[in-house]
Amino acid sequence: MAGSSNVPHKTSLPEGLRVGTVMRIRGAVPDNAGRFFVNLLCDPEGAEAALHFNPRMDESVVVFNTKEQGAWGKEERGRGLPFQRGQPFEVLLIATEEGFKTVVGDAEFHHFRYRIPPARVRVVEVGGDLQLQSVKIF
Ligand code: GAL
Repeated sequence: MAGSSNVPHKTSLPEGLRVGTVMRIRGAVPDNAGRFFVNLLCDPEGAEAALHFNPRMDESVVVFNTKEQGAWGKEERGRGLPFQRGQPFEVLLIATEEGFKTVVGDAEFHHFRYRIPPARVRVVEVGGDLQLQSVKIF
C-alpha cells in the first residue's frame, strides 16, 4: 500500500450536490501507487455510489462506475491515464446538467452521465494509494 495516513478522507454534503457544484481534489501519486479512488456516496456505508472515480496506475486506466445496492454497475473507462507515479495532480469533478465532468490538470478528461441523481450524494470519500493534499467543494 502506498496511501498516506490522512486517507480515507470523508467530506459530508448534507444537502447533496446541485448542478454547478465543483469538487476539487489535490494530491500526489506515490512512487509505488497501485490505485486510488474518489467515491461520491449516497449513504454512509457506501452501498450506493453515484460515482466511483478510480485511477489505476497498475493498469494504466481510469475506471468510472456506479454502485447500487452494493453491486457495481457497468464500467466506463477514460482515454489514457492522466496521472503519473511520483507526480502531483489536481482533479475537478463538476456536476453538470447531464453528468459528472472530470477535469485533470488543464484538460477535460471524461464526462460520466448520471445514473443516480447528484442530489442523492451525501459523502465525498477519497482513499487508496495517494497522498491527499486537499478536498474542496465550491
Ligand atoms: C472492481 C474493483 C473495485 C472497483 C470496481 C469498479 O474490479 O475491485 O474496487 O474499482 O471494479 O467497477
